[in-house]
Amino acid sequence: MPDLADKSIVITGGSSGIGAATAIECARAGMDCVLVARRRDRLAEVAAEVARLGRRAELVACDIADPRSSEAILDAAERAFGGFHAVFANAGYGLERDVLATPIDEMRRMFEVNFFSGADLLQQAARRLIAAERPGHLLMCSSCVAKFTLPRHGAYSATKAAQAMVARAMRSELAHHGIEVSTVHPVTTTTEFFEVAAGEDRRHLRNGIPPHVPALFVQKPDRIGKAVVRCLRRPHPEVWTSHVVRLVAGAFTAFPSLQEWVMRGEARKYRARDARTSASKPGPDAKNAGPAGESSGG
Ligand SMILES: NC(=O)c1ccc[n+]([C@@H]2O[C@H](COP(=O)([O-])OP(=O)(O)OC[C@H]3O[C@@H](n4cnc5c(N)ncnc54)[C@H](OP(=O)(O)O)[C@@H]3O)[C@@H](O)[C@H]2O)c1
Repeated sequence: MPDLADKSIVITGGSSGIGAATAIECARAGMDCVLVARRRDRLAEVAAEVARLGRRAELVACDIADPRSSEAILDAAERAFGGFHAVFANAGYGLERDVLATPIDEMRRMFEVNFFSGADLLQQAARRLIAAERPGHLLMCSSCVAKFTLPRHGAYSATKAAQAMVARAMRSELAHHGIEVSTVHPVTTTTEFFEVAAGEDRRHLRNGIPPHVPALFVQKPDRIGKAVVRCLRRPHPEVWTSHVVRLVAGAFTAFPSLQEWVMRGEARKYRARDARTSASKPGPDAKNAGPAGESSGG
């Protein structure tokens, strides 16, 4: 089992949620971190926690959709720590929208952030590891909804499936260089994700998550962070923290009619909720109620 002490990891989306929790778990395992996100103040809070655990954190405040970001992030890792052992392309966001209510420009933006930025970072990281003849571990934060989709999550789950497919191919292509590639498939996790995905109207959320998600499927971000550290220690293709959802994903693949039945039921619930929301909304706001609503994915 490889020792992680004194190795370093680059984590995008390190200012909150799964990325921040993973940074803290990596620091507990003896790793230094390069933390990337747009909010520098929030990165600094996570860095302070990493420092309390006796490790160092280098901060890169940037929008990962900027095409120059991957180079800047990896340069920062080389300056601060002489390179990196692992890269966790984790930054991303969701959008709770029917496909028809999602303008193509918004879909493109989500693909830029969730898919292209992560793919670019992993490509550039792999090239640097190969050039330095060093082993390493590249991870992509995908989702359980990479394996199936849900109403109002079509575009988001498309980004997550694209991430998983590219990373899976890279895993076999890079193995002979000693480079591991893994995808991470969280279920509903208590982070800022659902507030971001809901946009301005967050009234349907309870404690930041959709109220109808069974407690069995709701997890804290440190659970993902710990699972990522286990994967760094003992590399495997996919990180799952819910065996139940993993089995459901398998059943949906084997029996598409089952997925169809579940999805139609979910879509009916959304429509009923929209009707209740627009009935309770005063005046002109009601016109915006339409396609946005609860999310059970992530
Ligand atoms: N929460 C869930 O239920 C769930 C389930 C499955 C998968 N996931 C995946 O887990 C990953 C992390 O999400 P989370 O749940 O931890 O949500 P979160 O708390 O909202 O964290 C998202 C992170 O991504 C960063 N980010 C977003 N857009 C960015 C951009 N353009 N440039 C740089 N950084 C950006 C955010 O930082 P700034 O805002 O400071 O830039 C933040 O640190 C995402 O890829 C998400 O799809 C989440």
